Amino acid sequence: MASLEGRHAVVTGAGTGIGAAIAEALADEGVRVTLVGRRRDVLERLAARSPERLHPAPADVTDDASLRAAFARAGRERGPVSIVVANAGAAASAPFSRLDPGMWAEMLEVNLTGCYRTFRHGLAAMERGAGWGRLVAVASTAGLKGYPYVAAYCAAKHGVVGLVRALGVELARTGITVNAVCPGFTETPLLERSVRTIVAQGTMSDEEARAALASDSPMGRFIEPGEVARAVLWLCGPGSDAVTGQSVSVSGGATW
Ligand SMILES: NC(=O)c1ccc[n+]([C@@H]2O[C@H](COP(=O)([O-])OP(=O)(O)OC[C@H]3O[C@@H](n4cnc5c(N)ncnc54)[C@H](OP(=O)(O)O)[C@@H]3O)[C@@H](O)[C@H]2O)c1
Repeated sequence: MASLEGRHAVVTGAGTGIGAAIAEALADEGVRVTLVGRRRDVLERLAARSPERLHPAPADVTDDASLRAAFARAGRERGPVSIVVANAGAAASAPFSRLDPGMWAEMLEVNLTGCYRTFRHGLAAMERGAGWGRLVAVASTAGLKGYPYVAAYCAAKHGVVGLVRALGVELARTGITVNAVCPGFTETPLLERSVRTIVAQGTMSDEEARAALASDSPMGRFIEPGEVARAVLWLCGPGSDAVTGQSVSVSGGATW
């Protein structure tokens, strides 16, 4: 892969899980990474691992003004942005009969509208006429197929896949590619919360819940955050110039 050295990336949801793995993988390639998330302490702990390259920028992707301000400050401090990774997300679950309008709105707001806002402010933060840029969304296999009890999350992630397809075509002649990665169940705090929700229903042990989720993948195992990060790195590298509007499933074969 040709060097990404010296580029400036913004990663949302960067403090934990998949976002942290992506931020660290980019930093290892010499990229200066702005870390967006709501918890300052979590971002600062990650940044301490590589203070030259990892820069905390607390912001909430559901709050337009806060996200706009984070991009503006990142641009002033580290120059134009050329890589944007919209990774922040959350997965609340409930049977459809208990999916109230509040949970529906919350899932769309953080997972879909949050991605739209991140791409919008990210594009504005890119250098005009630079002729090179990368927008990457962390969607999900739930953006490509349905799962029970997560209708709002699935709807939002399907929306992200649609957004990436449309924007990829719209920007096709600009040198800016727009793609998604679609992880299957991945070992992160989000997965831990999902397992705890299942166990709390009282029908499965922790081990049984984990086995049930892992069986979604033909490989019968969870994905590691670093495996998702390596797919994102490839989409950011110059070898992927002709790839846009795609949703790359990193799921052990759960979707195609
Ligand atoms: N783990 C899986 O099985 C799996 C599978 C497929 C897709 N995904 C997707 O992968 C992405 C990352 O999730 P993860 O599994 O790595 O879980 P995670 O560790 O919980 O990461 C989510 C991150 O998003 C941040 N975040 C949440 N709401 C935010 C908001 N409103 N504004 C800014 N940041 C926000 C959180 O930090 P703060 O709370 O500090 O803001 C957290 O660092 C999500 O989009 C998720 O849907 C996960």
